Amino acid sequence: MKNLLFSEYTLGSMTLRNRIVMAPMTRSRAINNQPNSLMAEYYAQRADAGLLITEGTSPSPNGLGYSRIPGLYTAEQAAGWRLVTNAVHAKGGHIFVQLMHTGRVSHPLNQPSAAKVLAPSAIGLTGITWTDQEQLQPYPVPAAMTYADIQETIAEYVQSARLAVDAGFDGVELHGANGYLIEQFINPSANQRNDQYGGSAENRIRFAVEIAQQTAAAIGADRVGFRVSPYGAANDMHPYDTLEATYALLAEKLNAIGIVYIHVVDHSAMGAPAVSASVKDVIREKFTRTFILSGGYDAQKAEEDLQDKKGDIVAFGRAFISNPNLVEKFAKGLALTPPDKTTFYTPGVKGYTDYM
Ligand SMILES: Cc1cc2nc3c(=O)[nH]c(=O)nc-3n(C[C@H](O)[C@H](O)[C@H](O)COP(=O)(O)O)c2cc1C
Repeated sequence: MKNLLFSEYTLGSMTLRNRIVMAPMTRSRAINNQPNSLMAEYYAQRADAGLLITEGTSPSPNGLGYSRIPGLYTAEQAAGWRLVTNAVHAKGGHIFVQLMHTGRVSHPLNQPSAAKVLAPSAIGLTGITWTDQEQLQPYPVPAAMTYADIQETIAEYVQSARLAVDAGFDGVELHGANGYLIEQFINPSANQRNDQYGGSAENRIRFAVEIAQQTAAAIGADRVGFRVSPYGAANDMHPYDTLEATYALLAEKLNAIGIVYIHVVDHSAMGAPAVSASVKDVIREKFTRTFILSGGYDAQKAEEDLQDKKGDIVAFGRAFISNPNLVEKFAKGLALTPPDKTTFYTPGVKGYTDYM
């Protein structure tokens, strides 16, 4: 049987040298939300992957919900990202930027002063969040977005996607997962609007679909991917009756737009609720282009799921943090270094670029 994990894969107009994807991971090294040369070194160290997807990156000052996450809405930020894309391309890699607007998963102390904490409805998250200035703080209640706020935010995604191309990215991944702004619209536990952006499945996915349509129109559908996390519980997402029908409709609409991939998060290996086989099957049925698997994979399970045609390429997260040469280690069957969780989000080189 032909090995699939190490074989080439055609994604849109790109040829990936293997089917190993580095999953998007927030690492909080972007001081002042500005991408930098340390980040370029980190991504270049991992450029053997067929495709790298960057950490969540905000298309708007309003989407900067965490300390030290990068933005992509100014020319200066695009110039910082250029260091990253040049370093990755110099090693023959490919890289998409994940556009993540945090919405209500935020705190004013983490945002620039003129920014706002926005969400579909004025429903605050339970619990607390980190701020560099005043350590742990309760989440604020977000402002419910007006129609004008929604249109402005969609335009910010489009502008950010254009900047991504200017910065040399091969494409953008729209973060529709893990309870951030796009999923806040999709999930009725965070969206209690009674306009055309809330209520029915078609209305709740409208924000996602309009962003996908307009970014695809701006930069080309084969440069746009989309990440989803059905049944995910992160950031106060709760299951609901029409969940599977909602994702079926979303997959159908994204397929019609012609975007290049859907990336499905399954965090059940991290203690999150199970993701039903039926929801993955319906997404795969409705979305006919590339399907990225992710969550709890090792090389063997990835190869099995590729052989079983459960997906086309496979994303690895934590293993890439502590094994920059993961592709080589997989190929040679070498033992993996475990990651140090205490340095996942701390500034500086420790636990970032110093793994061998
Ligand atoms: C430190 C860390 C940061 C993460 N940040 C993001 C993120 O910015 N965007 C995202 O979609 N997922 C994020 N994730 C989830 C990963 O992309 C991935 O789905 C998860 O780690 C499960 O894959 P794994 O079992 O291979 O680690 C993060 C995970 C970790 C461990």
